[in-house]
Amino acid sequence: MTAPGRASRGVRIAGTGSYLPEQRLTNADLVAMMDTTDEWIVQRTGIRERRRARIDQGESVSVLAAHALRQALDAAHLRPDDLDLIIGATMTPEMECPTCACLVAEAVGASRAGAFDLNAACSGFVFGLNVAHDLIRGGAYNTIALLGADTLTRHMNYSTAGRGTAIIFGDGAGAAILRATDDPALGILAQSIHASGPGWKDIYIPHRPTDFPSGTPPDANACGYVSMNGSSVFKFAVGTFPKLIEETLHKANLGPADIDLYICHQSNARILTAAREKFGLPESKLHINIDRVGNTVGASVPICLDELVRDGRVHPGMKVMFLAFGGGLTWGSSLWQL
Ligand code: COA
Repeated sequence: MTAPGRASRGVRIAGTGSYLPEQRLTNADLVAMMDTTDEWIVQRTGIRERRRARIDQGESVSVLAAHALRQALDAAHLRPDDLDLIIGATMTPEMECPTCACLVAEAVGASRAGAFDLNAACSGFVFGLNVAHDLIRGGAYNTIALLGADTLTRHMNYSTAGRGTAIIFGDGAGAAILRATDDPALGILAQSIHASGPGWKDIYIPHRPTDFPSGTPPDANACGYVSMNGSSVFKFAVGTFPKLIEETLHKANLGPADIDLYICHQSNARILTAAREKFGLPESKLHINIDRVGNTVGASVPICLDELVRDGRVHPGMKVMFLAFGGGLTWGSSLWQL
């Protein structure tokens, strides 16, 4: 392809992919590990099962992400060497160094691509859409692979002490290829990236006694596990989600019904249903898959996108709003003209 000039560029989503580890963790499996019930979990979260990567057998986050990226490349009819850049949205890289994106570049043979990770917890993929889009729209790159991949189950305490958190999270990966196009109307219509530093205490993974917030006694047994204040996060999400939709619509001068699809981070079915009802949206416009995959952190938005693409529910000409919130606290949106 001859790359379009800077002034006349748009951005399109050229291909998507996703991958889930084979091992299923059903609510019945959790009942065998901790004091909980299928009814409690389904009623509070909508989750029936999630997937768990076998990290000890080499099924690490970059392995999941590489599977997703290979699919996305196939869907886009591209080769790994066509990629200029790989951005890995993850909060669970194998190691502090190298990044997940570098490991994926090696795994798929993307020898020309630059690569780096972007950590914004569950908001990572949506933030990454905004970053990758603007790098292409500005003319710096033509073809970027954006990964959303996480293996947060390795930070879960599967005992009664961890039951408020361990029921929610699952592992997975998704990928999207973003490319320059010569139609400047295509790409992002409105976007946002937000954070609230003081909110970090609502979801964190302590590693040492000094990591605990002031007022919380350090607990050596909690180190290495996600510590989440579920009811605070719930209130934050239920309040933030509708405001985020309103803010994004306002920036684009559009109404809720003008959007063809809302592709949302799968945090909790109750939070998603509340937003859907507030805006009077039909079920078909706000996809929910949390019952089958749980909350897959940075992977949840690209897994939803890929499912919708493969179901034939995403078409050129549509307006699609991507939304996410998560640890940090962070939240953001990316409204696309496909
Ligand atoms: N099974 C059974 N009982 C459980 C349980 C489980 N898995 N987890 C917690 N409980 C118990 C608690 O111990 C507590 O018991 P108590 O009243 O005797 O003390 C009771 O249920 C209520 O706990 P609470 O934490 O207030 O429950 P909740 O109604 O807030 O539901 C969440 C917990 C985590 C499901 C809910 O807060 C939530 O969904 N929060 C948002 C989380 C989220 O979206 N995180 C991702 C952000 S990206």
